[in-house]
Parts: sequence; C-alpha cells; structure tokens
Amino acid sequence: MIESTDLRSTTLPLNHGAGRIPVLGFGTLIPDPAVTISATRDALDAGFRHFDCAERYRNEREVGEALQAGRAAVGLERHDIFVTTKLWNTNHRPERVEPAFRASLERLKLDYLDLYLIHTPFAFQPGDDQDPRDQNGNVIYDKGVTLLDTWRAMESLVDRGKCRAIGLSDVGMNDLVPIYESARIKPAVVQVESHPYLPETELLEFCRQKNIVFLAFAPLGHGMRPGPLEDPVISAIAARVGKTPAQVLLAWAVQRGTALLTTPRTAARARENFDISALPQDAFDEINGIQTRQRFNQVVKTGSPGFIPQGS
Ligand SMILES: NC(=O)c1ccc[n+]([C@@H]2O[C@H](COP(=O)([O-])OP(=O)(O)OC[C@H]3O[C@@H](n4cnc5c(N)ncnc54)[C@H](OP(=O)(O)O)[C@@H]3O)[C@@H](O)[C@H]2O)c1
Repeated sequence: MIESTDLRSTTLPLNHGAGRIPVLGFGTLIPDPAVTISATRDALDAGFRHFDCAERYRNEREVGEALQAGRAAVGLERHDIFVTTKLWNTNHRPERVEPAFRASLERLKLDYLDLYLIHTPFAFQPGDDQDPRDQNGNVIYDKGVTLLDTWRAMESLVDRGKCRAIGLSDVGMNDLVPIYESARIKPAVVQVESHPYLPETELLEFCRQKNIVFLAFAPLGHGMRPGPLEDPVISAIAARVGKTPAQVLLAWAVQRGTALLTTPRTAARARENFDISALPQDAFDEINGIQTRQRFNQVVKTGSPGFIPQGS
C-alpha cells in the first residue's frame, strides 16, 4: 500500500524508459463539445496533468483546444502534461495505424503523444464508419488482422519517436499475456475498468510483476447508483476520515498502486476529485474486504463500449 500523504503528485514509472505517468488522470469521455472544453480546462486548473482521450470519443479537437488554451493560461509546457489517446477498432489493420495516430495528433494539436493505446482487442471492419453493423444490427468484425499485427504497428510508432509509450485497453490476461510474451516493446500501460467491485487482482498482480502500469477506468463505478459511491463501507469510511465517497474510492485506487481516470464535469467536482489524501491502513483493508462484484462497462465482451453518445 502506498502511504504517501500527497497522493496527488504521485507518478509511476513507465517501462522502455518512457518517463512517468501521473496517477491522477482526467478522462475525456464527455459527449457534449462545450462541456468537454470547460471540463478539461477545469481539470487542468484543479491540478490534473494526465489527460485520457480517444479517437472514438469524437472530441479530440475540443480537448486539444482546451489543453492549448489552458496550458497558456497556467503557463505549462508540453512536457508538463501527459496525454494519451487510443486507436479505434476500425483501424487495427497495420497500414491504418500510423494514419490514425497522425490524425489524432493533428486533432489534439500535439507533435508527440505520451501514450497510445489499442482501445479494445476487437478489430472491426476497416473504414470510416466507427460502428460497422450488418443488417441485423450485429457488429462486423475484421478476421483478417490479429492483435499482434496491430501491436507490431504500434511498436513502429515508438521507433519513429512520435509516441513515448504504448499499451492496451479492455484486455484480460488471455489477450495481455500473449502480447507481452511476443512484444519487442512491452506494453507500458493496461487500461481496464477497476474499482472495489471489480478489483482485477490477477491482472494487477501480473502488471506489478512485469512493470506494467495498471490504469483503472470507472474508479467511481461510472458514477452509477447503486454502485461503489453508495457502498456502506465506503460511506462509513468517508464519514470517519472526513472525505467524500469519491475521494475515498480514488485514494484507495492510488494506494493499491494503480493510476486512475475520473471524469468530473464541473470545477467543484474537479477540485474534489483531485483533493485526495491517503487512507489509514484499516480503511484500506476494509475496502479490500468488500465482497460485492459488478462490472459496469460491457466493452470487454464485444468491443462496443457503453457511454458513447447516441448517433455517433
Ligand atoms: N478504455 C475504455 O474502454 C474506457 C471506457 C470508459 C471510460 N474510459 C475512460 O475513463 C474515463 C473515466 O470515466 P468514468 O466514467 O470511468 O469515470 P468515473 O469518474 O468513474 O465516473 C464518472 C461519473 O461519476 C460521476 N462523478 C464524478 N465525480 C464525482 C464525485 N466527486 N461525486 C459523485 N459523482 C461523481 C460523474 O457524474 P456527473 O456526470 O454528474 O459529473 C460521472 O457520472 C473516461 O472519461 C475515459 O477517458 C475508458
């Protein structure tokens, strides 16, 4: 357990000499373009320095705009922030990887990325339609490319120096272990859903052993109620330590050695979610003892994520 009282400034080392990742990450999966801009600015102002984006969120331009203006206002250099984006399922074919990467960079107004992730292990029919479906509404998968083919193209991006680190998202041990074993450049980060109802202990242990950063999304259970935010153990600890349930959940995630992504949409929530401090050992242990198990995001089953705006 990490005991540092200032969890907010904690960073974790990335393998392959790719620098360090701030543990507190701001996620940009926000459907509304104006809210994307204001929430990204608010997160920067609150102290977040790690920003998680994706081609699939269709708002990289807004995030890029907010980061550019926000950095200028706060006086931050490019190296003061850590930016991730993700390759979508329709771009798994090796020849599509670099064009997709360059298009994301252009939208984000950046000339390099700190981290590029394969968004899910599912390859979809290549093309401009991000959500290709057959006449029965079923996703059209691409059987002509393997995850390792895509990984090799990701490795080439690192070789060319435009991307510091690469990793995977929405994978389990079944996808991660073969890629880890075959990779010339090992995955630096694995991004998956995780919170006290989905601790992913086996995956976390593998990541610890292999120096892969485990990056938890939905640390608040996507804010769903009932969910971890309303769990009686979390509420009781929050009352005891004088923090909010969200702050308790985020502190627990950092203290167990993971990085995390959270999506506050207002300035007040951004300050709240950044203002975390270490839990006492007994509280940490109590959270580890929660027995409820629930996954909130089904993306790992099909590659079609929830929480994407309708019609996009
Ligand atoms: N790799 C993937 O497939 C994948 C999938 C999903 C998400 N992600 C990434 O992970 C990021 C995190 O998203 P998330 O949904 O998992 O974040 P989250 O922080 O677990 O949940 C966000 C929800 O929690 C609520 N919330 C935020 N702060 C709160 C607080 N202090 N108290 C009470 N409720 C609070 C928000 O409510 P309001 O909306 O009312 O503010 C929102 O509904 C995304 O933006 C994205 O970058 C990745």
